[in-house]
Amino acid sequence: MSPPIPRLATVSEIRDALAPVHRRGASVGLVPTMGALHEGHLSLIRAARETNDVVVVSIFVNPTQFGPNEDLERYPRDVEGDSRKCAETGADLIFSPSVEEMYPGPHSTWVEVEGLTAGLCGRSRPGHFRGVCTVLAKLFNICRPDRAYFGEKDAQQLAVVTRMVRNLDFPVQIVPCPTVREPDGLAMSSRNARLTPEERAQAPTLYRSLRAAQERIRAGERDAAALEEIIRSVLTEAPLAEIDYVEIVRADDLSPVAILTGDCLMAVAVKFGGTRLIDNLRVSA
Ligand code: PAJ
Repeated sequence: MSPPIPRLATVSEIRDALAPVHRRGASVGLVPTMGALHEGHLSLIRAARETNDVVVVSIFVNPTQFGPNEDLERYPRDVEGDSRKCAETGADLIFSPSVEEMYPGPHSTWVEVEGLTAGLCGRSRPGHFRGVCTVLAKLFNICRPDRAYFGEKDAQQLAVVTRMVRNLDFPVQIVPCPTVREPDGLAMSSRNARLTPEERAQAPTLYRSLRAAQERIRAGERDAAALEEIIRSVLTEAPLAEIDYVEIVRADDLSPVAILTGDCLMAVAVKFGGTRLIDNLRVSA
């Protein structure tokens, strides 16, 4: 068992802890999370551990990125388990502020990335990326990391954060990390824990639908509408899944494509009851 690592709850505590690190020129890697950590998160921590002197994991269920009818209250929380996992994976510090600490109010400043947030999850979750970007801007200002680690599972989030950092000149390098999956292909997610056994049994259909489309691309299909139709038809094999979106977009600016050329992203979101799952696959055509 690894010895526990410090878990700091206030902005001044984490700033004080990192001040000597910055002063001596040591590098800081930040892994922003909302907790309920799984192997996907841990892969980010391991990646950060490889290249940084100090690894900070933030754990904060950010209310401003949840819509009024979303699962903020039901979002899984396990701070003790998370702390143990962070220590075992080699993190140095945990920053887990309260909502009052992060948003002491009055809070009236927001970071909005336009364009990239119009489709995909941005369409079905209005205001979501504004909340994500705002909390990340705060975390970057608080921790001043040299690198921050993000999963490709949330491909739109990764694209949006990369754009925000470039547009606003945050001195941080965004490091993408591959999607970690269960043996049956289901992308790991904190929300998977909320699936009923029946829903869990059907959840690998997301990845299966994307793989089916990938096969057709390999066989020469380039028509986005035809590929989206294949994805939809495989998804209907999961009767408990309600499709939110199926979209094929350009990988760089997330704009819709009619005919696949270059790097594209096939992305799906479905709802199993109150649990929304997303997945995506990058393809080169
Ligand atoms: P959360 O959903 O906890 O995810 C934290 C990070 O872990 C994100 O970068 C996400 O892409 C990555 N991640 C989640 N599942 C993964 C998987 N199966 N494989 C690889 N990486 C995975 O995303 C958020 O929190 C929040 O929006 C946050 C960025 C922390 C801002 O509040």
